[in-house]
Amino acid sequence: MQIFLDTTDVAALKTLAATGLVDGVTTNPSLIAKSGRPMLEVIAEICAVVEGPVSAEVSAMDVEGMLAEGRKLAAIAPNVVVKVPMTKEGLIAVRLFAEEGIQTNVTLCFTAAQALLAAKAGAGYVSPFIGRLDDIGEDGMQLIHDIRAVFDNYAFDTEILAASVRTAEHVQAAAIAGADCATIPPAVFEALFRHPLTEKGLQQFMLDWATAGQTIL
Ligand code: E4P
Repeated sequence: MQIFLDTTDVAALKTLAATGLVDGVTTNPSLIAKSGRPMLEVIAEICAVVEGPVSAEVSAMDVEGMLAEGRKLAAIAPNVVVKVPMTKEGLIAVRLFAEEGIQTNVTLCFTAAQALLAAKAGAGYVSPFIGRLDDIGEDGMQLIHDIRAVFDNYAFDTEILAASVRTAEHVQAAAIAGADCATIPPAVFEALFRHPLTEKGLQQFMLDWATAGQTIL
C-alpha cells in the first residue's frame, strides 16, 4: 500500500520524506488555509520534495471553473493530481480531465455507490473518508471493504485512497481491506513506527549489550 502524507507542512514533509517511505501527498482547502500561504506556492514546493502524486483541490463548484482551476494546478508539475469534490459537476470535470490526460482524485466519498460513479467517470483515485464516517457512528473501514469489492467485481483500476485516517490502526485496517493508498497526517506516520514492546525490547537489548562490554566495529 502506498502511503501519502495529508499535509501542507513542507518542513514536516521534508523530514518524513527522508525516510523514503512517503509515496505522495494530499492537500485540501482546509489544510491550505491552515498553512496561511498561497496555494500555488505550497503545491509547487511539495511537488519539488515528492516525486509521487500530489493532490491539489479545486475550489470552483461549476464544471467550467473546475476545468480552469484544474488545468492551472496541473500545470504546476507533472505529478499534480487534481482533486475534485464528489458532485455531479465534479464527475463531469473528471471525465473531461481524463480526456486531457489530467489525473484526478475524487474527494469526500462516503458510499460505495459514489465510488462506483467516480470510477466510471475515469478518476485515477477515489478518497473514502474513514474517520468522518466513524465520527457519525458508522463503520468507516467497512466502506473500504465495500469499494474494494465493487472495484474488483468490475476490474476498475481507480485506486482506493483511504482518507480521513486518524490512527495507526486505521492504516493497518485499510491495508488489510485492500486500499491501494492511505493518506495520513504526519503524527499518524510517526505513530506507525512505534510499539511499546519495540521500545521496551530495545531498551533491554541495549542494557544487556552494555553489560556484555563488546563492540562490533
Ligand atoms: C483527504 O484527502 C483529506 O485531506 C483528509 O484525509 C481529511 O481528513 P480529516 O477528516 O481528518 O479532516
